[in-house]
Amino acid sequence: MRDILPPESGRWRAFTQVFADVVEAAGYQQVIPPLLEDLGVFTRIGDATDVVTKEMYDFVDKGDRRVALRPEQTASVCRAFAQHRPAVLPWKVFYSGPNFRYEKPQRGRYRQFDQVGIEVLGVDDPMLDVEVIALGWEFYRRLGLQQVRLIVNSLGDPDDRGRYVEALRTHFEAAGERLTEQSRTTLAKNPLRVLDSKRAPDQEFVASAPQIADFYSGDAAEHFDRVQDGLRALDIPFTVEPKLVRGLDYYRSTIFEFQGGTFESAQNGLGGGGRYDGLVEALGGPATPGIGFALGVDRTLLACDDEGVFPAEPVALDAYVVDVVGGLEAAAITTQLRAAGLSADRSFENRSMKAQMKQANRSGARFAVIIGEQEAADGTVVIKPMGPGDQFTTPRDEAVALLVELNAAELNSAELTLESSN
Ligand code: HAM
Repeated sequence: MRDILPPESGRWRAFTQVFADVVEAAGYQQVIPPLLEDLGVFTRIGDATDVVTKEMYDFVDKGDRRVALRPEQTASVCRAFAQHRPAVLPWKVFYSGPNFRYEKPQRGRYRQFDQVGIEVLGVDDPMLDVEVIALGWEFYRRLGLQQVRLIVNSLGDPDDRGRYVEALRTHFEAAGERLTEQSRTTLAKNPLRVLDSKRAPDQEFVASAPQIADFYSGDAAEHFDRVQDGLRALDIPFTVEPKLVRGLDYYRSTIFEFQGGTFESAQNGLGGGGRYDGLVEALGGPATPGIGFALGVDRTLLACDDEGVFPAEPVALDAYVVDVVGGLEAAAITTQLRAAGLSADRSFENRSMKAQMKQANRSGARFAVIIGEQEAADGTVVIKPMGPGDQFTTPRDEAVALLVELNAAELNSAELTLESSN
């Protein structure tokens, strides 16, 4: 678990803001589920996934309830849907926030990590799968990432999936003891997840395993075809990866993953999602189709570092108030500047003019507002541009309005420079 400190924290906020902008423009509204839920909500994710069996932060609370810190938010969103039964479908929601998994920490893998994500409940249409994937793709584009790869697969309808799982079981059981012990344990619970194994001795059997595409019903094949047609129509490049199964057991039909170009393979999953028709039902709601994705904030920002995009922006104050006559003037002026919509800071502890000017410099403010003995006596202040330009004296009671104008002019000319350089 890590602290996210400034200026990185500002970048996190900007990241979630860009995400909200992208999905709100498509009609998604935010849900804020609790961090802690009844353990049963998450055990529905599946008992063959490490997320549930090994990595859950679960405990008994003071009221003897078995609870867990959420390892992801899809189950919580489905629980909320089952509980509140929204009247208008599709229910299009987005979320952002921390999740907890007891994993071995390393670069891009943490025990507390953040996700942003969307979920849509109540519609079974391949064009919705296309919208969901396209929104993830658009978000990466907004961040400036160029090297993200999209891989897609379909797990078919529940019946196809069932027949495929049985074929995989037969296939892997024939390998017997040549399969690693971990994979034999996984096999007993969910043969699909054996395809996920990265362990060398398993690779031969993973490579020769039956292919899901041979098990699709007509409907499932058509659904997946239409998803691919939709992605092509939107010029979103993708690769069909028949061995993609994803790490959670609730998936059906379309699944997908966004992979970073610059990471080791174990941590290159920047985000992923898919259909999970059946999960709402498992949580006590009506039969409801669902699809969504979650993108890892931590990993995506590492990918941004690697590609040199979406940097942390330095915070620039509009004004820094230097007061060497006791500090009351600085209190009044900063308060007025802030009320007028500018950002303003000041020095404390009655430091010397030199020390305060140093702080003003370090703050990155556009203007210093200086009150020395002379200004205090005259009812004036000195305004000093921290960039090029000469300082000047102005009446104290005109200073705030003047600074509002000066900042607007500075911002305008900065925008003009930016436009002309484009
Ligand atoms: P997931 O693949 O488990 O899916 O997680 C999604 C993303 O969260 C991963 O691609 C990764 O970027 C990030 N992530 C997962 N675990 C960690 C970790 N320990 N440290 C850092 N980042 C991590 C889900 O969570 C599903 N709920 C996605 C979904 C939504 N499916 C349908 N709707």
